[in-house]
Parts: sequence; structure tokens; C-alpha cells
Amino acid sequence: MTGMLTIAGLGPGDAALITPEVSAALTEATDVVGYAPYLVRVPSREGLRLHASDNRMELARAGEALKLAAEGRRVVLVSSGDPGVLALEAAPEWQDISIRVLPGVTAMLAAAARAGAPLGHDFCAINLSDNLKPWAVIEKRLRLAAEADFAIAIYNPRSKSRPDGFARALDILKDAGCGERTVIFAHAVTTPKERIETVSLRQARPDMADMATLVIIGNSATRRVGRWVYAPRRAS
Ligand SMILES: C[S@@+](CC[C@H](N)C(=O)[O-])C[C@H]1O[C@@H](n2cnc3c(N)ncnc32)[C@H](O)[C@@H]1O
Repeated sequence: MTGMLTIAGLGPGDAALITPEVSAALTEATDVVGYAPYLVRVPSREGLRLHASDNRMELARAGEALKLAAEGRRVVLVSSGDPGVLALEAAPEWQDISIRVLPGVTAMLAAAARAGAPLGHDFCAINLSDNLKPWAVIEKRLRLAAEADFAIAIYNPRSKSRPDGFARALDILKDAGCGERTVIFAHAVTTPKERIETVSLRQARPDMADMATLVIIGNSATRRVGRWVYAPRRAS
């Protein structure tokens, strides 16, 4: 049997946001590999083998998926959202195996849609986790993103092991003159725990974010109309 590795994103949470292409790959799979909370979202069926692993095991997970594919299995390695957005790490032995990558709906886009169109103009995404990059890099990117007047999507804003980074990020943005910018806290978007809060950056508190939150900071021209937030394309 010829093995294959499919790298796929399951979207932000709601099964309706798993793309038909990813659903088809899951239907044809013999094995699904991924972080345990993501595997819970994979429809179970007889004969399908699930290989769950822990957080921060990205390289081991990729290695396991490649090994199974090399043995001739049809493997799907799953992430949340889109696999290319702050999700997976590659293992070096990939060259000899048939691999495809399927896009998914990112948390950033799902959160933006709930609020309106806050990413409708130029924007960037910053991962606030300093597990794999120094905090100095994050700080520099925040400052420059503020100076360039990008809307900013912040991933991984705050966790139990990183309780202070988001407070520092808010301070950096206030110091950069962004106090009046609109901030959207999009928590657990498309799941039963979804909660959206929109405030000015000056009103934003660190405890409004956790690991299930995607934070969007508007640019200087971002407008609020009732509950909707949008970034005009002609401005800034
Ligand atoms: C490891 S990253 C995965 C990102 C994913 N690959 C994507 O494309 O959206 C995990 C972070 O994504 C964000 N996230 C993932 N799912 C989310 C959801 N349903 N609602 C809000 N934020 C979410 C949170 O910031 C979380 O800390």
C-alpha cells in the first residue's frame, strides 16, 4: 500500500467549518495524529486509529505521522484552524513521503467574521507565545506593527505558564499611542462557549484573554457601528 500524509486544519471549533476537502481526507484516513483536544473533534468510525499526543510535542507528533505514512498508512495530521498558521512543526525526514497540505478556516478569520470585518484592510498576526522565540522579538514586532498601523491579530495571548506577556503587550501598545484603538476579545469562537467583547485598548484588561481567545487590535481608522467593527479599506 502507498502511504500518504495529509496535513489538515479542523477550523476553529464548529464542525460546519471543517472544509469538505478535509472531511473527505478524514473519511479516507486509516490514522489520525494530533494534539488530544483536536482529536476529540474527529468523527470516530470503526477501524480508524487515533494517535493523541500532548501540547508542545509538535516534532514528535510530526515524526510519528511520517513514520506511519512510511509504513503505508493513510495518515491525517490535524491542527485547529489552518495547519500553516502557528500550528505545526516539520520533521526533517519528509522528502521521501507523499505529502499534501489542506487549508482550514483560521481562528483569526472566524473571530473577525463574528465582529464584522476588522481585518478588511492591511493586518498582521503575532503569536504571543515566547516558548519558541525570544520575548524581545515579540516586543519588536508589536512596536513595529503599531507604528505601521496594521490591525493586529494576537494568537496565544495568555496561558497559565505565560500569565504576564499579554499585560506587557497591552502596555507596549499603549506606549505606542494605541490607547484609543478598538480591541476585540473573541473567546472560543464557533463553540458553545463563544463570547465576544469589544472595548478600547485603554479599557482592555489582561484577564479578558486566555488561551482560547483570539485578540484583534484595530488600526487607527477602525470603526465601530453598533456591535460591528470594520477597517475601512480606503483609510490609513
Ligand atoms: C496553537 S494556535 C492554533 C492556531 C490555528 N492553527 C489557526 O489557524 O487559527 C492556538 C491559538 O489559536 C487561537 N484560537 C484557536 N481556536 C480558537 C477559537 N475557537 N476561538 C478563539 N481563538 C482560537 C487562540 O489564540 C489559541 O491560543
